[in-house]
Amino acid sequence: MQDTRQELMSRVQELKKERNAVILAHNYQIDEVQDCADYVGDSYGLSRIAAETEAAVIVFCGVHFMAEGAAILAPEKTVLLPELLAGCPMADMVTVEALRAKKKLHPGAVVVTYVNSSAAVKAESDICVTSANAVEVVNSLDAEEILFVPDRNLGSFVADRTDKRIVLWDGYCLTHHRVSTEDVRTARALHPDAVVVVHPECRPEVVKASDFAFSTGGILKFARETSFKKIIVGTEMGLIYRLRKENPDKEFYLLSQGLICPNMKYTTLDKVIKALETLSPVITVPEEVRIPARRALERMLAVAC
Ligand code: 13P
Ligand code: SF4
Repeated sequence: MQDTRQELMSRVQELKKERNAVILAHNYQIDEVQDCADYVGDSYGLSRIAAETEAAVIVFCGVHFMAEGAAILAPEKTVLLPELLAGCPMADMVTVEALRAKKKLHPGAVVVTYVNSSAAVKAESDICVTSANAVEVVNSLDAEEILFVPDRNLGSFVADRTDKRIVLWDGYCLTHHRVSTEDVRTARALHPDAVVVVHPECRPEVVKASDFAFSTGGILKFARETSFKKIIVGTEMGLIYRLRKENPDKEFYLLSQGLICPNMKYTTLDKVIKALETLSPVITVPEEVRIPARRALERMLAVAC
């Protein structure tokens, strides 16, 4: 088993050189996919790397909207998503038609769209955000009313940290929305001397019942810098692998066993190898969508550097 894994890892490295490729993996990917990547990070960090890389091929080990983001920012590169079925159910909770209808109801609002959305929805938006910069970006806007799309939980998190009027879209992440305040109480009872840190995609009451809320990159930074030795983690289970690897002196407990995103688990080493061998599946975005979508993403990158 170990040998097979090692063989697969070596094959990935070999193909990566042959193809002049860079492998980007989201923090929720399975352990061996994280281990074979050049960069492991949150949506924000990975989009910056995609925009700046000199590699000819980007293998995006994550979900569809992330690979689309890379294709928007780096159209001259070949962007591969090893498993085409890896989507984000929250991104599918907003369509262009529904967004246009809502914009008509709020003609003065600035449309702020979470990167967990399709390229077509980004193209209909004024500016994008990730969970790492949503508060900073919203507060930078010269607007009184914000239409926040599609995550109502991240939108509520922002609303609690700004004076602007936030109109929420009714979308949510199935994985994070499942966590309850009861889960927080149970975890605290099991680990009374641990702090609780959650992702802002959790429900507002769960965020309030916790000690801190950060993006996945923020949780990693917090874990590195804090003097707390025991941390209860309220985000997708894949992050625990990296947290333990980077902080062997600390203990991490998953807040709830329901914290698994099936879409993030589709990508395997075999699929990464196949993608590099066949240079497929390729993710592209038509120019008429890519240009306005890029504008929304670049506005975000200009605010949050
Ligand atoms: P981050 O941007 O915090 O990595 O989160 C992405 C995501 O999909 C969270 O569910
Ligand atoms: Fe989408 Fe939630 Fe999975 Fe993140 S964890 S990719 S928001 S479904």
